[in-house]
Amino acid sequence: MSWAHRRTVESGYDQMAEQYLATKDPEDPLALAALEDLASLLQQEATVLDLGCGAGVPVTRWLADRGFTVTGVDFSARQLELARQHASTATFIRADMTELDFGPETFDAVVAFSSIIHVPREDQPALLESIHRWLGPGGPFLANWATGEWDGEEEDWEDWGAPMRWSHYGWETNLEMLRNAGFEIVSTEARTGKGSGDDETWLWILAKKPLDK
Ligand SMILES: C[S@@+](CC[C@H](N)C(=O)[O-])C[C@H]1O[C@@H](n2cnc3c(N)ncnc32)[C@H](O)[C@@H]1O
Repeated sequence: MSWAHRRTVESGYDQMAEQYLATKDPEDPLALAALEDLASLLQQEATVLDLGCGAGVPVTRWLADRGFTVTGVDFSARQLELARQHASTATFIRADMTELDFGPETFDAVVAFSSIIHVPREDQPALLESIHRWLGPGGPFLANWATGEWDGEEEDWEDWGAPMRWSHYGWETNLEMLRNAGFEIVSTEARTGKGSGDDETWLWILAKKPLDK
């Protein structure tokens, strides 16, 4: 990831963590329904990696409260400070998710809510291969993705006083990247709900690492 790209996203979330958190619904029905689907596939003692965990609301906290052993990763120091307050039993790592180095089959599940859209899209295939490697056989990967493609920056995101950068492909390429990384697609659906500003439509994908890989 280029230094400039990382700097814009990381320092943007450092500066706007509170404003972003204020937009989050702790009971977000789309997030909670997706998490329930994920939890139904896991054992009680499962280990779950939350990539781009942000302030931990609702996802990291929900997973930790459910009794899973959760590791949250984010490169924004301020987001992690907030996440530690919201999900005190989780473990947190401050890192760029594209530079993580876990061993094979470290996690029973991986989630990434609204975060991979910030990773430079040319780095996303390698990230997905890493996620596939970190998952145990049959392990689910739940993420929401953009439905359309865009690579660009907003000078003053939501009028919150700092720039932000996004980089993503569209629906078909997202699915193709997952399949190329070795995932099976379990379900994929566009769902509309509350965003950081107006309602937003996201592509929700539940994928899994096949049992024999
Ligand atoms: C839109 S927020 C979503 C936060 C949380 N998952 C949620 O659903 O509320 C995106 C988060 O991903 C983090 N992020 C983006 N790119 C990252 C990267 N390459 N490595 C680690 N964290 C990243 C940002 O710092 C930010 O906290």
